[in-house]
Amino acid sequence: MEHITINPSNDYLIYNYMKRFEGQIPYMLPTTYEQFSACLWHETLEGCPIYQEQSIQAYVNEKGHMVGFIQYGLAGIHYDEQGEKHIEPELGNIRHLYFNPECHEAGVSLLEEAFNYFNDKGMTKVFAFDHIAGMSCYARHGKLHESMDHVKKLLIEYGLMVHHENVYYVWDMCQLEVSNDHQVKLMVEQGDERTKFSLVLRDKEDEVIGYGEATDLAIWGSPENNAYLRYITIDEKHRGKGYSKVFMNAIGSWYAEQGKQYLHCDTSLYNKVAQGLYEGIGMERQGVTYDFNGDLDKVEEMGEFFNNRAESYEQHMARTVAKFHEYYNMLASPMHKTDNVVTLLDLGCGTGLELKSIFNRCPAAKVTGIDLSHDMLEVLRQNYAEHLDQITLIMDSYSTYPYEEQTYDYVISSMTMHHFLEKEKGHIYKKIYQGLSNGGLYIEGDYVVDEEEERKLIERYHQLKVNRPALCHIDIPFTLEHQIALLNKVGFDQVDVVWSHNQNVIIKAHKR
Ligand SMILES: C[S@@+](CC[C@H](N)C(=O)[O-])C[C@H]1O[C@@H](n2cnc3c(N)ncnc32)[C@H](O)[C@@H]1O
Repeated sequence: MEHITINPSNDYLIYNYMKRFEGQIPYMLPTTYEQFSACLWHETLEGCPIYQEQSIQAYVNEKGHMVGFIQYGLAGIHYDEQGEKHIEPELGNIRHLYFNPECHEAGVSLLEEAFNYFNDKGMTKVFAFDHIAGMSCYARHGKLHESMDHVKKLLIEYGLMVHHENVYYVWDMCQLEVSNDHQVKLMVEQGDERTKFSLVLRDKEDEVIGYGEATDLAIWGSPENNAYLRYITIDEKHRGKGYSKVFMNAIGSWYAEQGKQYLHCDTSLYNKVAQGLYEGIGMERQGVTYDFNGDLDKVEEMGEFFNNRAESYEQHMARTVAKFHEYYNMLASPMHKTDNVVTLLDLGCGTGLELKSIFNRCPAAKVTGIDLSHDMLEVLRQNYAEHLDQITLIMDSYSTYPYEEQTYDYVISSMTMHHFLEKEKGHIYKKIYQGLSNGGLYIEGDYVVDEEEERKLIERYHQLKVNRPALCHIDIPFTLEHQIALLNKVGFDQVDVVWSHNQNVIIKAHKR
């Protein structure tokens, strides 16, 4: 499994990969390779490149087959909610993310790469499948189609939110029965990129009662018999008289005369009036499309953060923690195998992923779990229904909740200590030390970073933390050396690394 950087000399890989969506996604119309490649690298909107800089990465499986790709970079142009244009905005843009549904790891790995890049560039706002950056030779409609639900789920899991939901329609104008409405007349103004329509009353030609605009898709490389209707609108004082339908029919007839067969358009999922109009004239509904945006620096209160993710938490960990099973098995490895009762305090126990290997090693263990998140604890209760008589759960913060002193044979924490600055972490380690009985062990599994990364993350933490709740979800992992020094400082006499893989480490700290 590897990433391949795509450039103009191997972009036919992407061309071939995307071909599989023709027929599945209504706006992915066939184009030549040359048109596709030009659009991939040199797309502009109103003369402005859609990317300031961009990267395309493909994911290739063990057999050498491409199973997904991503196109991301810094946006070159953006229209905000008020329709105002921004050139070179500080925005990350994911134009495409496609991967085979059965190859989830491909999606995760590609998305991680894009997010690392956005992080490095200091981009906090990200758009995905933004229609502005749409793949123009594919009908300038770069949104994500509902048939790509696995992509949508992954983007949401990574913190992006659905921004727009639209319904996509295609009209076969060959089916259109041409009826000339003698009261109105269609005026057409053909520009290079756009065709403007207006509807006037025959007996009052200077009074425009409707406006509309369409794009000839042929100029974007798609087959010549397709056009995309950007919008139509009827003047307020003429609404409710059936002119929208008349206008649509007039536009359809005009296009049919020009030799075009298909008119595409879309409208908000919530605009039932437009949907009624399109369906009323015989347009075919082609499914819902999405675009996304997200604030990467959005800071959530800790408990809320995990409540919101409790349902999919374990799947997320299984996909993102390297050597997931080995990691959770190794967490219990410093414990002495025994059928006797041992006492264990699990800080930030979450859904209890670590408890399986703990009960395998010490079936009679008495566990006290502390966690802030109600929903994570609920999942734990379901997961360990058969062990509930051995488990006491406390919904509280382990940084303030008082632990019984000189009590536990083991204290464990997994993937939770990377949320504290040195002073607070030192305070928690002190409580852990005091909570352990003599000869007890503290086991910590977490991820660590290098010095440079630690410095950057602490800096970012201080920027984000302003006016935030005391316990909020911001990652500040330390270096391994920093962790060990802190544990030594509170009195642990021997601290050893039990296991490590990539950034993940398991440490055991012994209390004499
Ligand atoms: C990434 S999860 C780890 C869960 C579990 N230990 C595991 O390895 O799968 C982090 C957990 O720590 C909890 N947590 C974070 N800070 C906490 C605090 N101060 N007090 C109690 N729980 C906390 C969160 O609610 C969440 O369930």
